Order: sequence, then C-alpha cells, then structure tokens
Amino acid sequence: SGAPKPRLTFVGCGYLGATYAICFAELGYEVLGIDVDSDKIAKLSGGEVPFHEPGLDELLRSNLAAGRLAFTTSFNEAAEFGDVHFICVGTPQRNDGMSADLSYVEQAVSKLAAALPRKALIVGKSTVPAGTATWVQQLVAKHADPDLAVEVAWSPEFLQEGHAMEDVLRPNRLVLAYQSAWAGGMLYAAHKGVFDLAAAEEREVPVVTCDFATAELVKVAANSFLATKISFINAMAEICEVTGADVTLLARAIGHDPRIGQRYLQAGIGFGGGCLPKDIRAFQARAQELGAGESLRFLHEVDLINQRRRNRVLKLAAHLLDRSFGPAGPDLSGARIAVLGATFKPNTDDVRDAPALAVTTLLANAGADVHVYDPAGMDNARTVLPDVTYHTSIAEALPDADLVCVLTEWTEFRNADPTALAHLPAQQVVIDGRNCLDAALWTAAGWQYHGMGRP
Ligand code: UGA
Repeated sequence: SGAPKPRLTFVGCGYLGATYAICFAELGYEVLGIDVDSDKIAKLSGGEVPFHEPGLDELLRSNLAAGRLAFTTSFNEAAEFGDVHFICVGTPQRNDGMSADLSYVEQAVSKLAAALPRKALIVGKSTVPAGTATWVQQLVAKHADPDLAVEVAWSPEFLQEGHAMEDVLRPNRLVLAYQSAWAGGMLYAAHKGVFDLAAAEEREVPVVTCDFATAELVKVAANSFLATKISFINAMAEICEVTGADVTLLARAIGHDPRIGQRYLQAGIGFGGGCLPKDIRAFQARAQELGAGESLRFLHEVDLINQRRRNRVLKLAAHLLDRSFGPAGPDLSGARIAVLGATFKPNTDDVRDAPALAVTTLLANAGADVHVYDPAGMDNARTVLPDVTYHTSIAEALPDADLVCVLTEWTEFRNADPTALAHLPAQQVVIDGRNCLDAALWTAAGWQYHGMGRP
C-alpha cells in the first residue's frame, strides 16, 4: 500500500497473455497487452476474447471500460508504457516433433528490449527449455541500451484452460526467480494484487523463490508429473481391460490414499491440448541435449501409452460393429458413427492435439460416416478436420447412428437423458471415451454401455 503500482505489459496475447492482461487489470493494475497479430488486437480492443474461456469476456469489457486495460501491436508503445513486461508468447513444437521453437520469444524480447526508453523488468512466463532465461538475458544485453540496466526475471505459470481466471487470480503457488533486490521488489509489486486478494480472503499464496534453472524446470516438471499420472491410470485401464477389473473403482480406491490423491486419475482417451503433449516432448529433447536423456526416458513411455488410448476406441468400435481388424486397421465403411465432443477437454474451444479429434480422424479414415457435435469447438474442429459432418446439437448428431462415441466430458453430455436419446440412433450402443456417463443409468435406458478400462 502507498507505493504506486508498476504498469504492466503482457507480450503475446494468446491464451496465457490475454488472460493475464485481463485478470491483472481486474486486480487494479494499468495494463497493456501487445501482440503482432492485428486481428487479435482488434478483437480484444473491441471487447471480444478470441477464444472460449468462461467469464473472461465480461471481465475484458469491464476493464476496457474502466480504462485500465488496452491493447496494441506497437512495441514502442509497450516499451514506453510498461515498468514490468511479461513475455507470454508461444513456444510451439518444432518440425522435429520434439523440441521447442523459441523464435517468438527471441522476436518479442529483441524488439521490446531495443525499444525500452528506461529501466524495466522483463519477466519470462512462456514454457521454455532449461537455459532460456540466461539466453534471454544475453538477448537483452545485445538489444537494450546498456545504460538502462534492464533486468530479467522468470515466473512460470500454471493456468488450466477452462479454469484460467481462477488460476491467475488465485494461484496455488507463485514461482519467482530474480537476480537483484530491485528485480525482486518489482516482481512483488507486480503481484501485490494477487497477495492482497489472498489476504482479503484469508488465504496465503505460497511463494517459491529460486534460480532461473529451477523456475524453468518447475513448469515442465509439473506438466510431466500430471501427464505421467494420467498415463499411469490409462496403463491400469489397459490392465483392467484384460482382467475384467474396473479402472474407475481402482482409481477411487488408490486415490483415497492422500499420498496419491483423487485428481488426474481419470482414465479415458488420454491427454491432449497445447501443453502436456508438447511439453513432455520438449523436455525429453532438452534432457537429451544436456546428456541426461536417460533420466526422462519414461516420458517416452508416457507418450506411447497416451497414443495407444486413441487406438483403443477404434478397436472397440470395430469390435462392436462386428468388423475385422486387418493389418491396415479396420474397415468401418457403411457404419454411421455419432461423435460427441471435439475439444481436448470441456469448457474450452481448443482442439489442439485433442484426443477427441484424433479418434474422430481414425474413425473417418477407417471409412466410417462420422457425425460430430461439440458445444464450443466446432469452428476450430472444422478447420482441422473438414471432411466429417458437423451438427449443432446432440439430437441432430445421433439419428441413424450405429454407434455413439462420447469423447469429451462436457456437462451437456453427462446430463443428457439416455432415455430421451434412445430412440434416435439405429442401435443403442455407446462408447464412453471419458468414463463420464452414468453407466447404470444408460444401461437401464436400454443402451449397451462401454467405458474405458471397465468391464
Ligand atoms: C495443463 C496443466 O494442467 C496446467 O497446470 C498448465 O499450466 C498448462 O497445461 C500449461 O502448460 O499451460 P491444460 O492444458 O489446460 O493445463 O489441460 P489439463 O486440464 O491439464 O488437461 C490436459 C489433458 O489431460 C486434457 O486432454 C484432459 O482431458 C486430460 N486429462 C486430465 C485426463 O485424460 N485425465 C485426467 O485425469 C485429467
């Protein structure tokens, strides 16, 4: 209290940057979001969030109206405006299918550093390979006026799509890496709103202060752990499938041990999205470069288990439709399949590396006539997979289907009434790729129900 709040910029207004910009404006900071994509900036400036995230539209509009939040494509404007600049650009997978592409980080940091008119703090938030923060420092040294003594800090983020506002406003921890008292002071000032909110709610935000390498690693270690947990339970699902056991009961039983915990033990068609799959691959690639590839060899296995889950649905579909499974896979031609779900998880329109779309592609490639409905992801799905039929409701997707596959656990699907839907398809057979339906209820309504890793 008392000290003026630093002005913040968020460089890169994708999922991460836009969410942060909006939420930090909500916390009372003056915020400028910057992106090279002028369409994105036009949308955000006009009060439209360019992706689906519950609650964010409203917060964007109220903070634009309050004059605390603006967006620009100009690095000069951002450099002029900000005291603390958060680098939130993407680090996509390279064409090698493994390592991370740092070219957006390089461009963002170089352009910003070159335009800075006064001392500022540049904070890396993007998910990056170990060693990047030091490299960013070198970039800054190369492009910024040396007299300004611009500093670099690192603070990874852990937000989950569909839950992003809550994760930014009420993080379960902050990881802060900085190299001077000045940088530490700026970083705390830039997060004061988060601490104040926690204090007002009588919560504490745990802070881990550490070196650059640790901060970089925390992020990929956390995502690797989550991916491993999911693949662990999916491996158990495979074993349940050959033993007749039920993985949902197994997960519940082991999860009662607080050392294991109930969360991230949802067996199904595996993990996808813009983070977990690419992060575990980039982590392996970096470890390999550092001569420690052996340490992360298990992540290769985690990836393989995850990929196998997508084929599981194809195999089950072939079996249920009474089709043989040749060396080139099954022939599903003539079969009509209704697919519910396209996004990589519910409450988002994101279809990046979505298991649901991967399974849909497998079904379509096997010759099935596929009819898809998703509550939010259809526009994105259409661009990735144009050659299947899209519908605007469950009731439109189901008619005459020989098989129904539920591939994303949207509440709309969980809450659907199996009795009301039973007369629509040609056959009442459902594959529950996310174990999200009430098996007893669907069976009682006359459906032949098949979950993942369940008898
Ligand atoms: C993930 C992490 O959870 C965030 O903490 C992290 O900040 C983020 O990546 C990131 O690196 O930016 P997100 O990609 O939004 O967040 O997705 P998750 O909610 O973690 O779900 C990932 C995938 O795992 C989804 O496809 C989901 O369906 C699947 N999943 C999740 C399961 O199959 N089983 C589970 O038990 C949990």
